[in-house]
Amino acid sequence: MPEALLQILDLSVHYGAIEAVNALSLNVAEGEHVTLIGANGAGKTSTLKALTGLLTASAGTIHFDGQPLHSLGAHQRLQRGLAMVPEGRGVFARMSVLENLHTGAYLRRDTTAIADQIERILDWFPHLRRRLEQPAGLLSGGEQQMLALGRALMSRPRLLVLDEPSMGLAPVMVEKIFAVISEVCRSGMTLLLVEQNARLALQVTERGYVMDSGRITLQGASRELLEDPQVRAAYLGE
Ligand SMILES: Nc1ncnc2c1ncn2[C@@H]1O[C@H](COP(=O)(O)OP(=O)(O)OP(=O)(O)O)[C@@H](O)[C@H]1O
Ligand SMILES: [Mg+2]
Repeated sequence: MPEALLQILDLSVHYGAIEAVNALSLNVAEGEHVTLIGANGAGKTSTLKALTGLLTASAGTIHFDGQPLHSLGAHQRLQRGLAMVPEGRGVFARMSVLENLHTGAYLRRDTTAIADQIERILDWFPHLRRRLEQPAGLLSGGEQQMLALGRALMSRPRLLVLDEPSMGLAPVMVEKIFAVISEVCRSGMTLLLVEQNARLALQVTERGYVMDSGRITLQGASRELLEDPQVRAAYLGE
């Protein structure tokens, strides 16, 4: 089997004496779409923060494209092709929608390709096209989520990492966001998706990990996890 694009091995994250992640191992192959699901406080965001360099892991290793990541800062990890849309989005409220999209491409110099990609993103998100010149802070929560996703795509990441894209959104907006996530997947993007909405997450991915109290408790093909009685009872409300 070829080496996975992302390999996390025995990762632990602590907040002082609190252990949020306990010896977690997870991998994502190039072109694969993988989800990490779990209840509130399971340790999903902590895992992603350690992956993207926002938090220092207390143990474990992370390799990306065969290279160790754990000694690199967040900016260097982005340069390597790791882009994350954080929980709560974090768009630049005073900048316009268009300026926000451009900040996603700040590492790139290929101006024509950047313009083409902005067009493609605006085709995916017609809501944003109508608000290009408006400050991002005036957008609805769902529109900000779209913008944050668009901005991450502007860096043309090798791995796109999403933390709870459905959080706090009305069902119709969740549907729209997930429709775009599916399209992004079909376009060949490699994806690691963290979600509380386990059903949606398992529907757009091929493989999943279930996390509980800092540990991976179950993993497998997404369609099998959708059928798993334990998953159905705990995460699908059945
Ligand atoms: N800054 C922090 N200081 C102390 N404890 C924290 C901090 N951030 C998270 N925790 C704790 O670490 C554990 C894991 O939190 P984390 O945010 O990673 O979970 P999560 O799976 O992302 O949850 P959610 O679905 O609610 O976003 C929780 O018990 C949480 O209370
Ligand atoms: Mg979280």
